[in-house]
Amino acid sequence: MRLIFRSVLNGEKYVVTGATDGIGKAYARELARRGLDVVLISRTLEKLKKVAEEIEQEFGRKTKVIQVDFTNGSEIYQRIKEELNGLEIGILVNNVGMKISEDPTRYLDAPNIDQMLDKTINCNILSVLWMTRTILPQMLQRKKGLIINLSSEVGNRPYPMSLVYSASKVFVDFFSRGLHVEYKSKGITVQSVMPLLVSTDMTYKMNTNIFVKSPEEFAREALNTVGYTNRTSGCLSHSLQSYGLDLIPDSIFNPLLTKDTLGNVYNNVKKDYLKNKKEK
Ligand SMILES: NC(=O)c1ccc[n+]([C@@H]2O[C@H](COP(=O)([O-])OP(=O)(O)OC[C@H]3O[C@@H](n4cnc5c(N)ncnc54)[C@H](OP(=O)(O)O)[C@@H]3O)[C@@H](O)[C@H]2O)c1
Repeated sequence: MRLIFRSVLNGEKYVVTGATDGIGKAYARELARRGLDVVLISRTLEKLKKVAEEIEQEFGRKTKVIQVDFTNGSEIYQRIKEELNGLEIGILVNNVGMKISEDPTRYLDAPNIDQMLDKTINCNILSVLWMTRTILPQMLQRKKGLIINLSSEVGNRPYPMSLVYSASKVFVDFFSRGLHVEYKSKGITVQSVMPLLVSTDMTYKMNTNIFVKSPEEFAREALNTVGYTNRTSGCLSHSLQSYGLDLIPDSIFNPLLTKDTLGNVYNNVKKDYLKNKKEK
């Protein structure tokens, strides 16, 4: 176990946002497996209770759940602050995130764009700012803490057809890197995690292979990078893919991200996902 984890093991808890599925759930379980209690924050109460019960039974850790919809504005954070009052939070994982539209679209073509703009920014950006605002002060008092923020490979360059999502992930990456510099000397580590494809609902539960990781594998590998790097693709496979993608110039890359090519790839994967979901 890395020092950074040992340093938060004295009765302190951690918080994961978007903790009932996908990467967030995998982080929560992996951190519990490594001996930490957990506060799970997410949208669906039944799913929160189920994940909490799993963690308590499998890992013998204490849990607390907070039901919240992060597409709402800053008004939700007073309640989160009150719910967390008195808990020593050693690790914050800002995981929650969403795409502005299910399918790749040009900016103005996103369905319900007038509502979805605020919702996406609230969920992907405001949540990171406010959760950090809420929890960082108590970390500073204890002079130790770890904040892990889920950005994405799509925050490395503009990804047309997923532009609002891509731009929101640039924000998360920049904020994390800057915050790390600001608070490193105060005992706070901030890590920006930039995965490529992880098999979750967001990616239509794609089959896993050497390119596409399962959330469990991903969280395990990504947590092992804490203390070594404050900006990472999270796992070896994704780091190599990211390196390769960086070598492709925009003039070759951008034409591949058209509605037709992306649409075809998405549609095939999505068709299988919807079929599997129906069969369950
Ligand atoms: N999957 C990938 O390939 C990939 C790649 C790069 C980066 N990422 C980033 O990794 C993070 C996690 O992605 P994921 O693929 O694991 O997502 P996911 O499978 O869609 O899971 C999202 C989780 O967030 C919760 N959630 C969604 N909207 C919420 C809201 N408005 N309020 C509260 N909770 C909400 C969901 O809870 P309920 O379902 O219970 O409501 C669920 O627990 C995101 O920030 C994403 O951008 C993912």
